[in-house]
Amino acid sequence: MKPKVLVTRQIPEDALRMLEEACELKIWPHSDVPATREFLEKEIVDAEGLYCLLTEKIDKDILEKGNRLRAISTMAVGYNNIDVSAATERGIPVSNTPDVLTETTADLAFALLLATARRVVESSDFLRRGEWKTWSPMLLTGQDVYGATLGIIGMGRIGEAVGRRASGFDMKVLYHNRRRKPEVEEKYGFEYAELNQLLSQSDFVVILVPYSSETANLITMDQLRLMKKTASLINVARGGIVNEKDLYDALTGGVIWAAGLDVFETEPVPLDHPLLTLPNVVALPHIGSASIRTRTKMAQLAAENLLMSLAGQRPKCLVNPEVFEKN
Ligand code: NAP
Ligand code: GLV
Repeated sequence: MKPKVLVTRQIPEDALRMLEEACELKIWPHSDVPATREFLEKEIVDAEGLYCLLTEKIDKDILEKGNRLRAISTMAVGYNNIDVSAATERGIPVSNTPDVLTETTADLAFALLLATARRVVESSDFLRRGEWKTWSPMLLTGQDVYGATLGIIGMGRIGEAVGRRASGFDMKVLYHNRRRKPEVEEKYGFEYAELNQLLSQSDFVVILVPYSSETANLITMDQLRLMKKTASLINVARGGIVNEKDLYDALTGGVIWAAGLDVFETEPVPLDHPLLTLPNVVALPHIGSASIRTRTKMAQLAAENLLMSLAGQRPKCLVNPEVFEKN
């Protein structure tokens, strides 16, 4: 008998076919609305496998309801939406999709960096509003990227890829990570810095740590005040790492220059959110990994991980290896 799998969104065709061949699927029928809690709670009861996205909260309650569950696969690298320790206690392997999205997400981080420095979105809006009367010496002038200092908080896969891009702009790269990484210092010449030192010396600060109890509210007004008045803050990691109220105050009070945000505490970010009123904020709808090729690869990798876990094999990208060590 084919294992029953709950899929919480419409997913790319190739990945769907992989799952369909081997499993009996229950699929949330919408592509633009997340599965409701009610749907999840009802359908998890029979499911042996769960294929989910970062929009679903897979907490203890869901896991308790899903007592036939033996595999969870998320189509994302970040898994802060899943109670991994509860899954581990139940012996359920949790898998994610690292690596395949690294370069695409690093591109987006750099796009935000450039957009905030050179006021790209603000300038485009200015033109479309019909305010462009003439070329003018100081019109919409921004900050230079070339030769500037880039500070990366979280020197993991994507952090390293962002750092590599900086060499083309002749930037100095500082990084902060909970574990110092001599290999990137040696290979790329990145310099390790304590968090406060990185904040005070960088022209661009890019956040790339996972969301956790250690990184929640990592950046509040105390940290923002350490930054240069001309600096941009870029968050492509998770909302909640930067305190949004403090960020708003810093951007309106001239504490920092601009912010580029792909992620928010609440997603979708409410349209009346104060940050969206600011011309020095470039706000995106969590599209870090959103290239056609990368999203297709992520969907396939998540399917492959799920099928391997259901077959009792160690999936390619396992978040909780303890599950296999225990057995
Ligand atoms: P990764 O390779 O695991 O890198 C994360 C890095 O952060 C690691 O080097 C880790 O250090 C470091 N770190 C963790 N906690 C820390 C702390 N408290 N203080 C300092 N450093 C800490 O992950 P990744 O693939 O680069 O992805 C990073 C994050 O980006 C994901 O978790 C996800 O939230 C986000 N993301 C967002 C998008 C998007 O669409 N916007 C797309 C992809 C990823 P260790 O070496 O000690 O583990
Ligand atoms: C996206 O945010 C991811 O974690 O893959």
